[in-house]
Amino acid sequence: MVSKADLIVGIQWGDEGKGKMVDLLARNYAYVVRYQGGHNAGHTIVTEGKKYALHLIPSGILYPNCKNIIGSGVVISPKALITEMAQFENMHGGLQGRLFISAKAHLILSYHELLDQLNEKSAKVAIGTTGKGIGPAYTDKVSRNGIRIEELKNTESLAQRVLEKFQSLSAKGIVIPTPTFEDIKTELDSYAKALLPYLANTTAMLWKAMDNNEKILCEGAQGSMLDIDFGTYPFVTSSTTTAAGACSGTGIAPRELGEVIGITKAYCTRVGNGPFPTEEEGEIGETLRTKGGEFGVTTGRARRCGWLDAMAVKYACRINGVSALAMMKLDVLDGFASIQVCTGYKDKKGNVLKDFPNDLAQVTPIYQSFKGWDKTAGVREFAKLPKDAQDYILALEQFIGVKITMISTSPDRNDTIFR
Ligand code: GDP
Ligand code: IMO
Ligand code: MG
Repeated sequence: MVSKADLIVGIQWGDEGKGKMVDLLARNYAYVVRYQGGHNAGHTIVTEGKKYALHLIPSGILYPNCKNIIGSGVVISPKALITEMAQFENMHGGLQGRLFISAKAHLILSYHELLDQLNEKSAKVAIGTTGKGIGPAYTDKVSRNGIRIEELKNTESLAQRVLEKFQSLSAKGIVIPTPTFEDIKTELDSYAKALLPYLANTTAMLWKAMDNNEKILCEGAQGSMLDIDFGTYPFVTSSTTTAAGACSGTGIAPRELGEVIGITKAYCTRVGNGPFPTEEEGEIGETLRTKGGEFGVTTGRARRCGWLDAMAVKYACRINGVSALAMMKLDVLDGFASIQVCTGYKDKKGNVLKDFPNDLAQVTPIYQSFKGWDKTAGVREFAKLPKDAQDYILALEQFIGVKITMISTSPDRNDTIFR
């Protein structure tokens, strides 16, 4: 029998709680696969009081029998990956046989990070990137100048290529400290030693798994509104963060995708610059940030906070073909007297928009008001939620047109409602 691959995808501007949901669901899957992005991602898992922050390693890593794949669409900083791998050296007998890296994945090296930071400094309007070299690494890939991780098999010729990259940047007048050939080779040798044992033909592995009816969960990074094509361009990341990226970043065909699980918070956040119609810059935003612990896992930056933009959620559900929604962090709305949700947009002239606009900077949200509730934190059954919280969920799924099948009421793996 042939199984289909399920998918977890962020529906907003990232940090929706994908890590918690992937970790929670991973117990039912043989494979968890990251398919795009890099260590700009920060996925948090909390279990038995212990907190893990994952950037490149898939969130199935805490289960002994789950195989974790870094797919070909991911851009890998070897330095960041090696540091992250060290956390798991002594867990479940180590990572060998539990972590596999696509030989086709591209590398992020120090000059990508430096370029990212220089681009941000010199930009008229900065994107507010994570500064991790994501944009420059994908730029190299798309312009056919990238470095695939399998090139670490020959560090002599790779070191020469990398040296030439530094030299060509200097020749363009970009002030970047150029290391010696020997320094580059020594660094690449250490990466090769640590990472080559994990390289695999991950597409063939996934096909074989599906042919054997083994279950696969693809783990999205970032969120749909940061998608290079469908997000708030240019204030986006440099990869396809939507469901299509799961196919191009793994080799799984569109017809082989099964459930597409969209992850949204009960409110909204964004890190970095760019339009955010429902942003609350005053007391409400501050309350959401403090209660929700809205500070970046990767950069520590304070996240911008605001009410749920149900228009954007509905749009992202269509782009991804979401079949079920998970609503995270409902507990963060506990104690508000009233809660607002954006269910429409007006343009600058006051006309109500019929279609989702290209430029969210030009719209004003139209809000629907909901009655607040006392407490949902830690609740594990839908029937035990306050009636007003139930009404909030039911009204949202009606508006969005997708059933909210999972509701999260704390960072802990177990504080989750299934319906
Ligand atoms: P990701 O990037 O989508 O994996 O999300 P992050 O890990 O960057 O951010 C989500 C944050 O919310 C993490 O600190 C989680 O531990 C936390 N979190 C997840 N679900 C809940 C929830 O239901 N309630 C609360 N209060 N926190 C949650
Ligand atoms: P997870 O997987 C939230 C944002 C950055 C910036 C823009 C471009 O944890 O949800 P980049 O470094 O990718 O070139 O930055 O994208 N960004 C994220 N925001 N969560 C993330 O990942 C993000 N990864 C990138 O803040 O606005
Ligand atoms: Mg995150």
